[in-house]
Amino acid sequence: MSAAVTIVEVAPRDGFQAVPAFIPTETKIGIIEALAAAGVPRLEIGSFVSPKAIPQMADISEILQRARLPAGLRTQVLVPNGKGLQLAAAAGMREVGWVVSVSESHNQSNVRRSVDQSFRDFEHAWREFGRGLSLRFSLATCFDCPFEGRTPEARVVACVERVLAIVPELEISIADTTGRAAPNHVGSLIGALIGRFGSDKVIFSFHGHDTYNLGVANAIAAYDAGVRIVDGAAGGLGGCPFAPGASGNTATEDLVFAFEHMGVATGIDYAKLLAAADLAASVAPEQAGGRVRRVARKRALAGFGANTRGLPS
Ligand code: COA
Ligand code: ZN
Repeated sequence: MSAAVTIVEVAPRDGFQAVPAFIPTETKIGIIEALAAAGVPRLEIGSFVSPKAIPQMADISEILQRARLPAGLRTQVLVPNGKGLQLAAAAGMREVGWVVSVSESHNQSNVRRSVDQSFRDFEHAWREFGRGLSLRFSLATCFDCPFEGRTPEARVVACVERVLAIVPELEISIADTTGRAAPNHVGSLIGALIGRFGSDKVIFSFHGHDTYNLGVANAIAAYDAGVRIVDGAAGGLGGCPFAPGASGNTATEDLVFAFEHMGVATGIDYAKLLAAADLAASVAPEQAGGRVRRVARKRALAGFGANTRGLPS
């Protein structure tokens, strides 16, 4: 039996942030609770960012207070700066993602700072507010930048070395922000990173987009290279508003179908996930993606539980 994979559901953050019209808080909470009820083991609930940069995330504090979530669910928020980290800690978050882009121009576009400044901000903020928190360090544009093209591997390695000099124990999310990575690129970069830096204290995860229909293939390439934590967004929503041409995250329901079909357990209730994905997609049907939701539901679910029952999650 293959080793299980942990899916991190990011529709409430990466998914919703890409939707221009404000999604009512009540609707967001309904989708978050439906995803939790489907048994996703980890959920990125939103981000503490400037409401001018991403107005959609302005209600994150209210969502954190009001959403009713099962005790075993691991939740995280994304932050781009010290203020975000401080707010996340004050809101009682135990797990926080800090985002920096490997490429200079996307970092400027996304957080209005140089990569060096982002690292200096991080070092300072982590010392001040990071005590007791688990860190997911999210490296955006690891493969491709919307402004600079292919990202040199040495730049990713330099960023990994830099964060490890600040925090020795963490998860590092390797992100294909634009969805332009090819599976062999994903496999070679992640294989190299795990080989050089991976340990029980330094865990690598993969965050992919499906812009060019390579999202599932890229996630499997990451898994084959040793990754056991993969991000997805229900309904295939998603995309960084500061990465021109990028579209939705790889749909969680497509990832779960692919992994379970390969005998890789996810621990997720597939019928409930598909229902939650429909709900997520309904907030922006024109932006939603993914394939399995388009298959007749009975067929998509046929024999599905066979791989999931009785396996360790
Ligand atoms: N949470 C909430 N509000 C924040 C904030 C945070 N993390 N960081 C800054 N702000 C507020 C400031 O208080 C300030 O508010 P004011 O105008 O009412 O005084 C305003 O936002 C601007 O703050 P400033 O520090 O000057 O930020 P900036 O304009 O240089 O923008 C970022 C920098 C990082 C805050 C902004 O670019 C951002 O939030 N980017 C996030 C991008 C993102 O989420 N991308 C998708 C995920 S990859
Ligand atoms: Zn993303």
